[in-house]
Amino acid sequence: MEMKMDIGMVGLAVMGRSLALNMADNGFQVGAYNRSSAVTEQVMRDHPHENLHPYYSLIDLVSALKRPRRVMLMIQAGKAVDTVIEQLIPLLDDGDMILDGGNSFFEDTRRRADYLAQRGIHYLGVGISGGEEGARRGPSIMPGGNPAAYEAVRPILEAISAKAEGQPCCAYIGPEGAGHYVKMVHNGIEYADMQLIAESYLLLKYVGGLTNAELAEVYAAWDTGELRSYLIGITARIFREHDDLTAGELVDHILDSASQKGTGRWASIEALKQGVDISMITTAANARVMSNDLARREQAYRLIERPTGKNPLERTALIETVRQALYTGKIIAYAQGFALLRDASECYGWNLHFGEIASIFRAGCIIQAAFLNDITDAFCKQPALSSLLFDEFFLSRVNKYQNSLRAAATLGISAGLALPATLAAVSYLDSFRARAAGANLIQAQRDFFGAHTYQRIDREGIYHHEWSEKA
Ligand code: 6PG
Repeated sequence: MEMKMDIGMVGLAVMGRSLALNMADNGFQVGAYNRSSAVTEQVMRDHPHENLHPYYSLIDLVSALKRPRRVMLMIQAGKAVDTVIEQLIPLLDDGDMILDGGNSFFEDTRRRADYLAQRGIHYLGVGISGGEEGARRGPSIMPGGNPAAYEAVRPILEAISAKAEGQPCCAYIGPEGAGHYVKMVHNGIEYADMQLIAESYLLLKYVGGLTNAELAEVYAAWDTGELRSYLIGITARIFREHDDLTAGELVDHILDSASQKGTGRWASIEALKQGVDISMITTAANARVMSNDLARREQAYRLIERPTGKNPLERTALIETVRQALYTGKIIAYAQGFALLRDASECYGWNLHFGEIASIFRAGCIIQAAFLNDITDAFCKQPALSSLLFDEFFLSRVNKYQNSLRAAATLGISAGLALPATLAAVSYLDSFRARAAGANLIQAQRDFFGAHTYQRIDREGIYHHEWSEKA
């Protein structure tokens, strides 16, 4: 009898192909399909595997699957997903499952889940992080959707996921679009983390005068301490990489302009809608937007005078200040990301488990870092923790290091360097702990010009004042 496939993979670009091979390595029979047959043939030529089987039409792929059928989509987020869903509907039966492993917008996932539920098909929005290497060797996986359907795909997803202290970095997140929402926030944190690292680089290079070789050493040293993380590790390696086209290190030949596919922007839009301040994530998305405007930056550089502040710190002190600032900035960025998740959990009724979410970020994903163990502990100890900044461990770190964060921000300001995420971190901290926020004056202004009313500190209720006419 013909062998039946455990799962069908639709889309064999880098991520789809790597996940399919990861599944095949784990003993699952994987049916592989790509819209263009040439891609399927190429994958089979480049990566022959006894458990990977090519199919050249969706109908052949679906017919080869064990029941209930499991089809995973690894295709470009957006319209293409809807198109393939429409092609799959007539081929699938009640109880079959479609998994979307791309970076789909969570509202699209919710809509698709509803639409398919009406047709008896389960739809799981599965956030996957870790890039190509993660997908191939073990990513962090954030599945959302019907819990019973998740149980049917769980053995595969857990098997292919990264492991942190022996535990799979894959956990059921919640219903509907919860998995993709968490992935969106993961990416938002990733943006902030990357921006903070880029700002530490600017300080070390332009204030401290460090060479690429010295930068590589600094980041490599940081990667052995409390900043230990995937992103710091690759940063150290980047500074060592020689250019293969000209002399020197590659980093100096790369255009100073970064693009984005949208997840950081989505997180910011959702945060504004929900009324949660994730300024560091928004700032990081904006920093990329500003970086793209190369011609105007050049023009402004010539026209707008630069401050001429001096750096008062000697090299070792500067490096330590920047390290502490980076660590503190990271804590605040994660506090913002988890605050957004807490609000979303209430807003959508998802009952998210923050300790578990942090725990699956410990390995496999782009933001994996040593301090995710501390975040996991914080939320496991106190599931109702209203802000990461109130956790005893993180509070002690912020109190210990916040002066360095302020010093780094000040160095950037006096040197005229763009450090928007570092500055946003300081601002957030001061807004978060503000006894005086100036909002009494804002209430008064609103009541003055629009009779919007105001609240008082000494009694309950809503008040309006007849403000004096006289100037
Ligand atoms: C991951 C990454 C991955 C991808 C992002 C990059 O977690 O593996 O986040 O999803 O690299 O799409 O996003 P930008 O193109 O927006 O930087």
